[in-house]
Amino acid sequence: MGSVWQSTVELQSFPALDKDVSTDVLIVGGGMAGMLTAFMLTLEGVDNMLCEAEMIANGTTKNTTAKLTSQHGLVYSKLIKEFGLENARLYLRANEDAIESYSALCSSIDADFERKANYIYTVNDRAKLEKELSSLKQIGASAKLVSDLPMPFKTAGAVSFPNQAQFNPLKFLAGISKDLSIFKHTTVKELKKSKEGIIAVTSGGKVKAKRIVVATHFPFINKHGVYFLKMYQHRSYVIAIENAPQLDGMFLDDAENGFSFRNYRGLLFIGGGSHRTGKKGGGYAELRAFAKKYFPDSREKFAWAAQDCITLDSVPYIGSYSQAAENMFVAAGFNKWGMTGSMVAAQLLTCILMGRKSPYEKLFDPSRTILRPTLAANAASSVLGLIKPTVPRCPHLGCALNWNAAENTWDCPCHGSRFTSEGRLIDNPATGDLKLK
Ligand code: FES
Repeated sequence: MGSVWQSTVELQSFPALDKDVSTDVLIVGGGMAGMLTAFMLTLEGVDNMLCEAEMIANGTTKNTTAKLTSQHGLVYSKLIKEFGLENARLYLRANEDAIESYSALCSSIDADFERKANYIYTVNDRAKLEKELSSLKQIGASAKLVSDLPMPFKTAGAVSFPNQAQFNPLKFLAGISKDLSIFKHTTVKELKKSKEGIIAVTSGGKVKAKRIVVATHFPFINKHGVYFLKMYQHRSYVIAIENAPQLDGMFLDDAENGFSFRNYRGLLFIGGGSHRTGKKGGGYAELRAFAKKYFPDSREKFAWAAQDCITLDSVPYIGSYSQAAENMFVAAGFNKWGMTGSMVAAQLLTCILMGRKSPYEKLFDPSRTILRPTLAANAASSVLGLIKPTVPRCPHLGCALNWNAAENTWDCPCHGSRFTSEGRLIDNPATGDLKLK
């Protein structure tokens, strides 16, 4: 069963590349971040093209819950602590601007865009909510503490942001993609330096580009940027049920293993069951048990899973791919907030590529320090995967793969690559299939 979004729209088909071409900017990856970057560069009159190894919106974009919000968990206390007041303010502003940009575009695109309040709740930690609210006051955010929530279980309340939004990501993409230069089934296999910039060797021909933007979910060029050290991946699950309440808002538990909720066309989405990719978690079973307990008369209509990249400091990597990789740019690590983050990325990358200054450049710089407490935990998890003596081994860096019985896939606990039972690559950072024999 696919996501609810797939049942609402059939995206336009695009050709595969079949000859050598030249362009100013080559964008690799046809998810929301890549598509929006192509769209914005086209609006600026910059010659660009986008290559996607499969179909557009084939990854996390079709599996998102599609909330547009600047409230990414109870994150602002942490941002103030690690990045300072001014940067926390910038993070808020970048994401608020992103929501407004979606709103403006959706005035002429039918993407089921609806203004909704967003709520981050805790089950029993009122003090954490109060601390976050006080941090939000310091940076001028319009947020409030709410005690009564419409969920069918007890909570300690929530911090709420007004005037956020939700939408249908595939209807939105159908609206922006009509005039873009997009090539599907076009895998970038190798990048070579050239006098004018970069030559991308693809499955359909060579692309000479002055600049390249990597928007492949997990950055696929492994020799630069050490993304496998500074990012890991999470799986989370969604069921959409009918005959359940309309909650009028978007809700998320601040706890890592908590639930999320939003409505769409008479359905209630329940998200959760999440876990680091390659490890065990609640999965669909946890969501179904929840629905059965609290909404016994509901019926499940859709179920799907998403894969998200998580950074060490809760801020995405947007900007220059690495200090050693000239003319290469990246957008990755949206920490489960990929729809808002994709707009932030497209706007910032467009600014950088146009040679304009942006106040957000430093905050999102992918080359910022990785010396965060989470680095050790991430590295330790990778070491465990490396020393585990079982087969099959991941073609990325050789970690032992774990069988995911709920989804019939081989999943890597080190950096999150995934493969079908036959070994076909589903998710980066591995760049090739798994050899099972
Ligand atoms: Fe890196 Fe598997 S994804 S070793």
